[in-house]
Amino acid sequence: MNIENPTLMFSENIDNAQKITWKCPSNIAIIKYWGKHGIQLPRNPSISFTLENAFTETILSYKPKEKPDNTIDLAFYFEGVENETFKAKQLKFLYGLVQEFPFLTHLSLRIDSHNSFPHSAGIASSASSMAALAMCLCSLESRLLGKDSPLQEGSDVFMQKASRIARLGSGSACRSIYPIMAIWGKLEGIEGSSDDYAIPFEHEVHDVFKSFHDDILIASRGEKSVSSRMGHGLMDNNPFAEPRYAQARTRMTALVEALKVGDIETFGQICEDEAMTLHALMMTNSPWFTLLKPNTLKMIEILRGYRETTKMPVYFSLDAGPNLHVLYPNSVEKEVRGFINDELKPYCENEQVIFDNVGRGPKKI
Ligand code: PMV
Repeated sequence: MNIENPTLMFSENIDNAQKITWKCPSNIAIIKYWGKHGIQLPRNPSISFTLENAFTETILSYKPKEKPDNTIDLAFYFEGVENETFKAKQLKFLYGLVQEFPFLTHLSLRIDSHNSFPHSAGIASSASSMAALAMCLCSLESRLLGKDSPLQEGSDVFMQKASRIARLGSGSACRSIYPIMAIWGKLEGIEGSSDDYAIPFEHEVHDVFKSFHDDILIASRGEKSVSSRMGHGLMDNNPFAEPRYAQARTRMTALVEALKVGDIETFGQICEDEAMTLHALMMTNSPWFTLLKPNTLKMIEILRGYRETTKMPVYFSLDAGPNLHVLYPNSVEKEVRGFINDELKPYCENEQVIFDNVGRGPKKI
């Protein structure tokens, strides 16, 4: 099969080869990626839990173009409605991939995408959406290349490529490709780790972390005042950047050890330190900014008090936004859910909470 000329294949096979659907989850970084260089290359390694209930489902439909040319013919639908703003973003991404996927200019494409969480929930959807699109593109490539290609769906090379492509769309998306946990960024002592793509970390992780919960408490649903792209950029002039990157490495090594042996307390401490470091970095830019809201801090204060009094293993993390991620092992689910519902939910916008947990990664539909 000539991948540069998929038209041939379609004339043979047009009916059953027109759609590819992937459902991809979001992820929450425990060691944060904040600061980049080159084309979405990280300044420090990061590690995340892959989630389950917060996901994007993307359908990539394709048919041969009447007359192939150098342009990409795309229609983009978000939640059933044609969306020109999202389309422009996706086109920019796809044009950057034409050398990698020459078939992009030979097909008419339609992308239908929707999230499991409300768009207005203030949850970044770039990780799950770019991961879902990357999986669709790699599946399409694999289909066009046929059975003899090493890029068979689900193979190690396929996953690595999907992770790399997702990274080009949104750095953190490269970690959403794998179940349970993924590491992105070169780190001494972690074989195969790379700045180009994430690698799976499931098999090294103690069982207690594989059923961890991550409930997302919506402190504010508003649009972020500073995008993560701008935030990464501001790190270039942050006076604490270099020590921060070194700190992330040291914390990674300590966290990896805690994850292996099932040390929840060390995990929790590093997790919270990282969340606060991320937001402290934002506040040490000049001019400074903060994405935290009064209710974020209120909930952190209450959570800390609850942990001190009850000795429950419950910790928080934060993404680049005001919403609080509450992390805890499955063994205390009942108690912590009760606590969240009674004591934290009143501080959430419209009492909105997304109950989530560590998940099995992307799923082809
Ligand atoms: O993938 P981006 O460019 O949206 O950056 C994400 C950065 C954080 O979510 C704050 C941290 C991370 O590692 O996911």
